[in-house]
Amino acid sequence: MVQKFKQQRDLFESERSFRLLVEGVADYALYMLDPTGIITSWNIGGERIKGYTPDEILGQHFSRFYTETDRANGKPMRALGIARDQGRYEEEGWRVRKGGTFFWASVIIDPIYEDGHLVGFAKITRDITERRNTQMQIETMQKQLAESQKFDALGQLTGGVAHDFNNLLMIISGSLHILKRDTGEDAKLQRAISAIETATRRGAALTSQLLTFARRQSVNPQPINFADRIEAIREVLETGVGSAVQLAYDIDRNVWPINADVSELETGLLNLVINARDAMPDGGTVTISARNAVLSDPLHAGEFVAISVADTGQGIPSDVLDKIFEPFFTTKPIGKGTGLGLSQVHGFAHQAGGTVKVESELGKGTVFTILLPRETSEPKQDKTVAPAAGSGTVLLVEDNPDVATVSTGLLEQLGYQVRRVADAEAALREIEHNGVDLVFSDIVMPGKMDGLSLALRLREIRPDLPILLATGYSDAAADVRGDFPILRKPYEIHELSEAIAKLPR
Ligand SMILES: Nc1ncnc2c1ncn2[C@@H]1O[C@H](COP(=O)(O)OP(=O)(O)OP(=O)(O)O)[C@@H](O)[C@H]1O
Ligand SMILES: [Mg+2]
Repeated sequence: MVQKFKQQRDLFESERSFRLLVEGVADYALYMLDPTGIITSWNIGGERIKGYTPDEILGQHFSRFYTETDRANGKPMRALGIARDQGRYEEEGWRVRKGGTFFWASVIIDPIYEDGHLVGFAKITRDITERRNTQMQIETMQKQLAESQKFDALGQLTGGVAHDFNNLLMIISGSLHILKRDTGEDAKLQRAISAIETATRRGAALTSQLLTFARRQSVNPQPINFADRIEAIREVLETGVGSAVQLAYDIDRNVWPINADVSELETGLLNLVINARDAMPDGGTVTISARNAVLSDPLHAGEFVAISVADTGQGIPSDVLDKIFEPFFTTKPIGKGTGLGLSQVHGFAHQAGGTVKVESELGKGTVFTILLPRETSEPKQDKTVAPAAGSGTVLLVEDNPDVATVSTGLLEQLGYQVRRVADAEAALREIEHNGVDLVFSDIVMPGKMDGLSLALRLREIRPDLPILLATGYSDAAADVRGDFPILRKPYEIHELSEAIAKLPR
């Protein structure tokens, strides 16, 4: 008798503790259904995840947790059928809370048998919305990482080639200047020279795009107010699109300042606008817009300015979309496109600490959006300095003898006396012994000291000596952004003259 009583009490105790366990589990909705899907038990997890109290939900059909589409498709009853026939049903999918909000659920349904008869189903549901979001973020980041590694590899390749090209172009364009001066009236020669000139400019524009893609362009970033900048280049853009295409602007006047290289920003915009024009052979509208954007993208979080170029053109097929930013990828006929426009845009945006995104719909149009981080310092008013005829002695520091000859020629034409040395150490000796009025140095040079180290050293020992740096590219240039003015090779005589005139003295 006592024995039986003890057995009963144990059973009661174990059932009680089991019930307490099930009812108390807060992270899982654990509940039972009868064979038709009516809810017969409920726990605190169910209440927490789905929002219903036991009073509200007991006796209701479990299909109310499904989305309307799932219900219309008969998914709830199909799930019970599968659980019955296969012994288990398992799924991840959207479910609906009491308030109508959605959550991503992990669902398990097990059939329960008593004496060989189906008496109902046990259901376990977990809310894994957060886990799913994290997983998706990781996947996006992995994709972005793989993409950026691919672009880095391509960048190294293109950067190397473009650097050598720039020195060649510098020699061609500089020598042309001297030839032009001595040609006289010979029309045939003049035509030949002007053809070489045009080709050199085109070559320079192409290498410049390549360098931007390789993120090795020597940049002169500065705080820019986009709304002002766009006014200044309206005309260039309008000429770029031609007459069949309308240009529209939608610029938020309160758009934050950004920090970027002005000429690269302009080249980037022009590249996008010309692409938009090419995508609308029968005409259409290109809209340039700018607005502030606060992003929470893991790789680009914070305050950004979003600059978009939208067209109403043919759109980009999905198999093409993956490749458009690669250098030399083009779908245009030979001679029409080099496939460098978007590579430049991509390199520019990333170098400025931002990114570029594209959305496209076939037959409807395409939107490219450049995202650039907000700049906190105020843009300076661009002061233009009229170049004056030069005088005094320039110390030219340049290791390549041909480039040196050309640069000497240009400096002399501007009225300077030129002394040339081949490296930084020689430059320091020359300044020590003879004194000069201005130093013009290449950045990339053999030897222990490059042009930047030279400039930094001179700033210490001769703080008043004006210094101008030149480079075809430099990774190092990125480290001193804005510290010293940098002239890009190849440069023309007027650019050299303006750069010298702007030097702080
Ligand atoms: N707005 C657009 N609409 C449709 N397709 C576009 C658009 N912009 C770019 N594309 C596609 O992306 C490709 C690459 O563009 P990208 O600007 O890099 O090179 P390109 O225009 O072909 O040549 P380049 O700009 O060097 O003259 C284009 O050939 C085109 O197929
Ligand atoms: Mg293009």
